[in-house]
Amino acid sequence: MKKLLCILALAAGISTAQAQIDAFTPKAVWNDTEGRPINAHGGGILKHKGTYYWYGEYKTGKTILPSWASWECYRTDVTGVSCYSSKDLYNWKFEGVVLKAVLDDPSHDLHPTKVIERPKVVYNKKTKKFVMWIHAESPDYSKACAGVAVSDSPTGPFEYIESFRPNDSMSRDQTLYVDDDGTCYQFTSSENNQTLHINRLTPDYLRPDGTFVRRFVGMAREAPAVFKYKNKYYMLSSGCTGWDPNEAQLAVADSIMGEWTVLGNPCTGPDADITFHGQSTYVIPVNPKKGQFIACFDMWNKRNLSDSRYIWLPLNIDKETDKITIPWHETWKY
Ligand code: DGJ
Repeated sequence: MKKLLCILALAAGISTAQAQIDAFTPKAVWNDTEGRPINAHGGGILKHKGTYYWYGEYKTGKTILPSWASWECYRTDVTGVSCYSSKDLYNWKFEGVVLKAVLDDPSHDLHPTKVIERPKVVYNKKTKKFVMWIHAESPDYSKACAGVAVSDSPTGPFEYIESFRPNDSMSRDQTLYVDDDGTCYQFTSSENNQTLHINRLTPDYLRPDGTFVRRFVGMAREAPAVFKYKNKYYMLSSGCTGWDPNEAQLAVADSIMGEWTVLGNPCTGPDADITFHGQSTYVIPVNPKKGQFIACFDMWNKRNLSDSRYIWLPLNIDKETDKITIPWHETWKY
């Protein structure tokens, strides 16, 4: 019947693609422009030449809990990193799996039996390369490495270079931040997730340059998302409770490698104490001069990871005090 309707629609010149979207509806299934659920988890957004690119974990197939698991290390087989493009942040076109799984080498970081998480892509103006960093893991989460891939185009293909422990330290949940002077930093949960490391990268963004600081010592912060507003750096992060939600935290600093001050939980409204059931992954600077930012969270479904959803909410910045809150909205437009 569905097939017949599609044929009739095509014959009548009606597009079968998804209708235009003009609002955000956190927690609902978000479809791409072809009407398929967007599959880009733990992701990050890059704006390049007027187009937004959303990169994320492409999670398909069964969610697996290994028989030897002593904790909830649910995973799906590695299928790669997906990319979607958009001009308006509402309507997303699937650009494909831009970093693909490696099927024929069981020792490779991208083999289906491994874990890859939290891909972030930045553009290097000097080398003109798109650089992706991921959390490269083993199924038992003991590898704790960062993996790096590069591409000449935002839509890939990305070529995987290598994985390593930045500055010989563990690296799990991570993000990248490029400052106004073009210097790139990796923020990563290190020291068994207890302490966050901020690693300055080499000018080509492919390795740490050896300068790093330990921050949030013993505070077990995960899921870092960094942004800048009025010359101050902000970091949104979660606590460390596996796939289960916990309280978000915002922190501020005058310089990236400097001292960070914890501001507390910015979320307000129902279930704000568990981040509305979400976990931070990125903050999009839509128009930073005007204080327009979107906080992006994943709502994990740990027993069916591919059905994990998205919660995107606007940052609310008080005009007089600059206090940042993230109020809950069932649906909203910017
Ligand atoms: C929390 C992290 O933020 C996720 O990316 C994932 O690593 C889970 N832990 C695994 O339990």
